[in-house]
Amino acid sequence: MIGALKKLEVDFRGELPLVSNLDQLEALKVKYLGRKGLFTSVSGRIAELSKEEKKLAGQAMNRVKLLLEQLFADRESLFKSQAISSEKKIDTTMPGTFYAPGSLHPLTRVILDVTQLFERLGFSVVDGPEVETEYHNFEALNIPPNHPARDGFDTFYLENGHLLRSQTSTVQIRIMEKVKPPLKIIAPGKVYRPDATDATHAFMFHQIEGLMVDKDTSFADLKGALLAFAKEFFGSKTRLRFRPHFFPFTEPSAEVDIFWEAQGQWLEILGAGMVHPNVLSALKIDPRAYAGFAFGMGVERIAMLKYGVEDIRQFFENDVRFLRQFE
Ligand code: DAH
Repeated sequence: MIGALKKLEVDFRGELPLVSNLDQLEALKVKYLGRKGLFTSVSGRIAELSKEEKKLAGQAMNRVKLLLEQLFADRESLFKSQAISSEKKIDTTMPGTFYAPGSLHPLTRVILDVTQLFERLGFSVVDGPEVETEYHNFEALNIPPNHPARDGFDTFYLENGHLLRSQTSTVQIRIMEKVKPPLKIIAPGKVYRPDATDATHAFMFHQIEGLMVDKDTSFADLKGALLAFAKEFFGSKTRLRFRPHFFPFTEPSAEVDIFWEAQGQWLEILGAGMVHPNVLSALKIDPRAYAGFAFGMGVERIAMLKYGVEDIRQFFENDVRFLRQFE
């Protein structure tokens, strides 16, 4: 019987390497160690042996059984670990996935540059709602109903009587309703006008509004702040020109141009002026005690000038070939 056990072991060692997956291994296990397997039938013969022989045969049985079980277990864990690594199939020599780093949109970049510059001059950044009341967009800015100035601010009206703000000057009103002077704010944001889209017009664009109100704020303060901005943003040699103009909410009012060396001409970049006494009074700020300056600039406009962009639509088309130039 010991010889038979030995043969069983040898056969088993011969067959084991031929097994190539877990199913075949299981079948081999049943063949050798199953209840009706080879091991059971060989060891059944122990009954025929003498007491002396039984002892030796018993030891041999235990040894072979443990050995077979051990070899099965080793094979099993080998197959299992191979199955896991073939599922993942990690090839460490493959190049990794490349994610292009994102970057700020040029308009975001310009808004950040301009607002940070004014922050250094002591202005606080605030914002206001894009859905506005007629009162904040017009009346409070000294533009009464039926006033022809409204034509210049063509507006998207909503069914509930509100509107999409056509200028960030609304934020002047919103802030003065809450905060009493002295105040210095800068308010970037989107505005909307139902203009036909072309190279210089879009139905949505951005403005940056500035407002300073204090006891003796003067037009010189306005000029100083705007010149500081222009020199920092466009370069230290930049020249500014203030042209008389009309805005209902400022008196006097001006349009401000910068001299564009590349084209040898003056180009308008913003509107500005001294806050109209009517605007201050309506907000219960005494125009005899306080004065303010205000300005509003078009973000796309100054971005186009600074970067030489010729078509405003490029800012909104999300063409990465355009956007990557600003990384
Ligand atoms: N809100 C004006 C516009 O959209 C720009 C402007 C002009 C803003 C004069 C001002 C200002 O604050 O004082 O055309």
